[in-house]
Amino acid sequence: MIDSYGRDISYARISITDRCNLRCVYCRPDSSSPFTAEVLSIEEILRICRVFASFGIHTIKITGGEPLVRSDAAELIRRLKGLPGIERVSLTTNGQLLSGMVQTLRDTGLDEITISLNTLKSDTYSRLTGQGELARTLAGIDAVFDAGWTTLKLNCVPLSAESRNDAVQIAALSRDRNIQTRFIEMMPIGAGISFPGISSTTVRNWLEAEYGPYTIHMDKLGHGPARYGRFKGFTGSIGFIAPLSEPFCECCNRIRLDCNGFIRSCLHQDTGTNLQPALVQADDAELEAAIRSAILNKPQGHRFSHTEPFRQAMFRIGG
Ligand code: 5AD
Ligand code: SF4
Repeated sequence: MIDSYGRDISYARISITDRCNLRCVYCRPDSSSPFTAEVLSIEEILRICRVFASFGIHTIKITGGEPLVRSDAAELIRRLKGLPGIERVSLTTNGQLLSGMVQTLRDTGLDEITISLNTLKSDTYSRLTGQGELARTLAGIDAVFDAGWTTLKLNCVPLSAESRNDAVQIAALSRDRNIQTRFIEMMPIGAGISFPGISSTTVRNWLEAEYGPYTIHMDKLGHGPARYGRFKGFTGSIGFIAPLSEPFCECCNRIRLDCNGFIRSCLHQDTGTNLQPALVQADDAELEAAIRSAILNKPQGHRFSHTEPFRQAMFRIGG
């Protein structure tokens, strides 16, 4: 469906829970914010996705919180893959629970997995994630390849200038395997407000100092805002997602559904539509109208440049 600014909305990110087994310093550093008690059921999510598909939204990303803490995550993915009009389903996870579930996930038909990883040092990993174990996520990466996927994506969010070594080491994972590593600029959202973040240009300079010139691909990999390129001798690509230094709002193709049933039409604004009243109706007319209105009211762009901090928590929005 085309929105009011001529953008073709074809991709939905669905946060299936705001629970998380980690406490990343820039996302959910403490336990003070309560979790949502009642999240959308599988049936409700499927019903919404049927409408999405009829509106031309063919690609779905399952996210959280940590989506794999929800025990019916694999079942949801399997059923989404069976929905007419849904062409691709992918998953973003912190990877802590992956290795034990990967074959179940593979059997659902899940197309692609993205793993969040900010460091290859286990003490730094535990410090940044509150309670995570690096070895578990690394085992998850191996498990994804062992289960039969031939590629995966990594998301890395450098926190500050001290992240240089971490970024250089993470990029090396794309040298040896077909991993697409994406460096994301820290957005001033929720707990992320407290971190300076690092521009994509700086990260690129760090990597070029180590790996030589970076060549940008002409083709676009994937369905998102990342721009990809490669270093000589690398098997996988390196991507940059630069919402602050190079905003991509004018070609934004996505909407977000949070685990309460609120459609958030822009990551950085509270504009959107609560689908709950429509979900209690037996027929889909009201639901279709609510989703159409969320898409038509999608704002032109984010407000990162405005001075007012955006307090909404990332673990609720789903990244
Ligand atoms: N800015 C950028 N990325 C963030 N993430 C969480 N908070 C922020 C933020 N403030 C990332 C996570 C994960 C993805 C879903 O979003 O690290 O990779
Ligand atoms: Fe959990 Fe992801 Fe937030 Fe870390 S960034 S606390 S893994 S939702």
